[in-house]
Amino acid sequence: MRLGVLTGGGDCPGLNPLIRAVVKRGILELGYDFVGLENGYMGLIEPDLARPLTLADTRGILPKGGTILGTSNRANPFQYAVREGEKWVERDLSARALERAKELRLDGLIAIGGDGTLSIAARLAELGLNVVGCPKTIDNDLSGVDQTFGFDTARMIVTEAIDRLHTTAESHDRVMVVEIMGRHAGFLTLESALAGGADVILIPEIPYRIEPIVEKLKSRARGKRSFSIIAISEGAAPKGGSLAVLEKAEDVPGRGVVRLGGSGKVCADLLAEHIEAEIRVTVLGHLQRGGAPTAADRLLATRYGAKVLDLVRDGQWGHMVALRGGEIGAVSLAESKKQKRVDPSGDDVRFAKSLGICFGD
Ligand code: F6P
Repeated sequence: MRLGVLTGGGDCPGLNPLIRAVVKRGILELGYDFVGLENGYMGLIEPDLARPLTLADTRGILPKGGTILGTSNRANPFQYAVREGEKWVERDLSARALERAKELRLDGLIAIGGDGTLSIAARLAELGLNVVGCPKTIDNDLSGVDQTFGFDTARMIVTEAIDRLHTTAESHDRVMVVEIMGRHAGFLTLESALAGGADVILIPEIPYRIEPIVEKLKSRARGKRSFSIIAISEGAAPKGGSLAVLEKAEDVPGRGVVRLGGSGKVCADLLAEHIEAEIRVTVLGHLQRGGAPTAADRLLATRYGAKVLDLVRDGQWGHMVALRGGEIGAVSLAESKKQKRVDPSGDDVRFAKSLGICFGD
């Protein structure tokens, strides 16, 4: 059995432990061969981006963030960006990807990624490629999966950032707005903000009004706590307002998704019309995705990596590994198209509100 392995979409801590588990189990127990495809699906389109993936490649990578295979969030074979004259245009190169898999003599492909990478894998499976998937994302927004690896590490980084913002906010009596990743899902913001003790939590699932936030800040000031922490998702927006966008999907050929950013500034500007306190905005950005994975993410990624080879061995092509109810099983790759969102009337939001945290609703 000769398998291609690729990591696609945004990187996240845990990719290297997963690659390590796949390669070690595959070679040591099952006698498989691996081909590393570099930069996501680019490795299945462009020449010279495929190389043997051996035990030697996996030495020392367990605690490392990022991915030794490289990744790309612009390499969709169905909408591939190609240069035609002066312009970049999108072309369907899926046939070339299938051809390349044949040239490389791949019996199957292990695609590791978030919703974008896995839904491409599902489409390639429909075209007849043998594909299995492993879900990752710091956004934790895949519906068929309790938790994706990368999320725990990002949650820890954001919690620590909120802790650090607390001490400086308190010293200066400032309102600190911290902008957190997560695209259109508020899990990372909600859970880190709860763990870090933020006073206001603004998530995409609950469009906010500025009045209740102003009231919350004023009531804290009346109680002699003149600093406050506002945790806001990059995808959060005021009621009736629009998403804060840095780049539209159509501005970047082959990217396919909007680039968010600036929600913290939008919120700070709205607040500044109502309060005297000094407001500062911190955008955590890619710090949230960098560095060593936590023990929980290493473990989850290692389990996913070992388990995905059961799917290969048993011929469960078109499926991905998924943690559900504490067990790692297999679900159809089609599940990756369904995304989950924070339930505005779910336990975490309800409990947070019962502690006096404001959601701006
Ligand atoms: O999906 C993971 C994620 O980190 C999102 O939270 C964020 O919006 C996006 O990727 C950023 O992507 P990029 O690194 O391509 O700007």
